[in-house]
Amino acid sequence: MERTTLISPAEIEKQLDFCRSVARLTARWEEKPLAFVDTYGCQQNEADSERLRGFLDKMGFGFTQNEEEARIIVINTCAIREHAEQRVFGNVGALVHVKRRHPDTLICLCGCMAQRPQVAKKIRESYRHVDLVFGPQALWKFPEMVHSLLTRRGRTFSVEDEPGSIAEGIPVVRQDKIRAWVSIMYGCNNFCTYCIVPYVRGRERSRKPGDILAEVRRLVEEGYKDITLLGQNVNSYGRDLEEPMDFADLLEQVNAIPGDFLIRFMTSHPKDATQKLFETMARCEKVAPVLHLPFQAGNDRILKVMNRRHTRADYLEKIKALKALIPDIVLTSDVIVGFPGETAEEFEDTLRVLEEVRFDALFTFIYSPRPGTPAAEMDDPMPREEKLANFNRLTALQDRISEEKHAAYVGKTVRCLLDGLSDDERYDLTARTPGNRLVRVVGDPSALGQFQNVKITGANKWSLFGELV
Ligand code: 5AD
Ligand code: SF4
Repeated sequence: MERTTLISPAEIEKQLDFCRSVARLTARWEEKPLAFVDTYGCQQNEADSERLRGFLDKMGFGFTQNEEEARIIVINTCAIREHAEQRVFGNVGALVHVKRRHPDTLICLCGCMAQRPQVAKKIRESYRHVDLVFGPQALWKFPEMVHSLLTRRGRTFSVEDEPGSIAEGIPVVRQDKIRAWVSIMYGCNNFCTYCIVPYVRGRERSRKPGDILAEVRRLVEEGYKDITLLGQNVNSYGRDLEEPMDFADLLEQVNAIPGDFLIRFMTSHPKDATQKLFETMARCEKVAPVLHLPFQAGNDRILKVMNRRHTRADYLEKIKALKALIPDIVLTSDVIVGFPGETAEEFEDTLRVLEEVRFDALFTFIYSPRPGTPAAEMDDPMPREEKLANFNRLTALQDRISEEKHAAYVGKTVRCLLDGLSDDERYDLTARTPGNRLVRVVGDPSALGQFQNVKITGANKWSLFGELV
């Protein structure tokens, strides 16, 4: 088993000292020191950005959505698909104008893309206005790097390939007052052949249960109502701990924390989703009746080449077992269309899984080759138009299923968490069902942040509509 490097409390204290030094510098600036943090990609990145904001806050920065008034710009990137990377390159390229107008503005690129050697090289050579590049492994050193940029100038690259560490005690500025992310583990050991994540986020390492429980307890005391436990593969939580425990045990302990709140988690890997987990979900009243369980492809040959280590039958059996325990379980999944060598018939197997499981929602992706992964070297004869046609069939089928599943809510009254104000003027609030379906609600906006009964009056393939009872 790999050893996890725990960043010592003294190291983090040193970083907080750097924050204080930076705060003394920024206090002398003529303008108010403002930071702009832009986040791409998954919830793990959102959670990382909340820690970057935590550090920035301690460095004396306020926050802005306007790049022009920011004296530090942080772009937290995602490497999962090429398209996401191209968008980042486009946006980072455009920052050259900001740098020209405000040469003192620090431009930082971090996250999964930054950890890719090819990206770091490109930034080093062709994006010379970027001052700081660091990967997810170096996030805990952010204050030290900013301090060095402000005092010594020059560019900094911290993108060494490391198995990864855990740092407790990093300050957090959360974006939301109702829903919160709690990372329970970092990294991934699975090496699915299409996926870049294990290369950029290092090996699986679990936070200690005591640290996780303390964080959740604090959030509940602060009034958070909806807590998502995060990890690339939460089902393998705890295997690396000195005193091993599994994810189901952790759920049970989080569930035992007093208070009225919901527990969600993502992402699960089918190979590690156990009967014990399903039974725990069924028994724990705070655990939301929803499971995001990516199956990626419905064909066994493709699953094997993807190195998924589960078959279509394994998957369907697990879903069946879960539905037997929690009949109203909301199911979502990830699917990749056009994996190298996937034939037209093999793709049909994916459609069949959709028909059989009837997911409530699906995240669908066209395969994107990631340099350095095994799949990027595989023969990929299917033309892009054919992949696109398959993709469209997949989404059309899922749209139909989502619409049918949503229609079944109409007329029911559901206890929902009112989690936001609606941007659609016909509705006052947005809400989430326990299964995380979006509801647009007519009712008193002062109910924001509460669990309340909502009568569902309408639905489409995207969301539900209703009124406060
Ligand atoms: N191409 C397309 N989709 C991918 N995903 C991961 N890697 C790739 C890739 N190279 C998808 C998977 C995963 C989700 C987060 O992104 O479906 O579950
Ligand atoms: Fe990528 Fe597979 Fe790990 Fe998910 S489980 S992050 S798809 S390698």
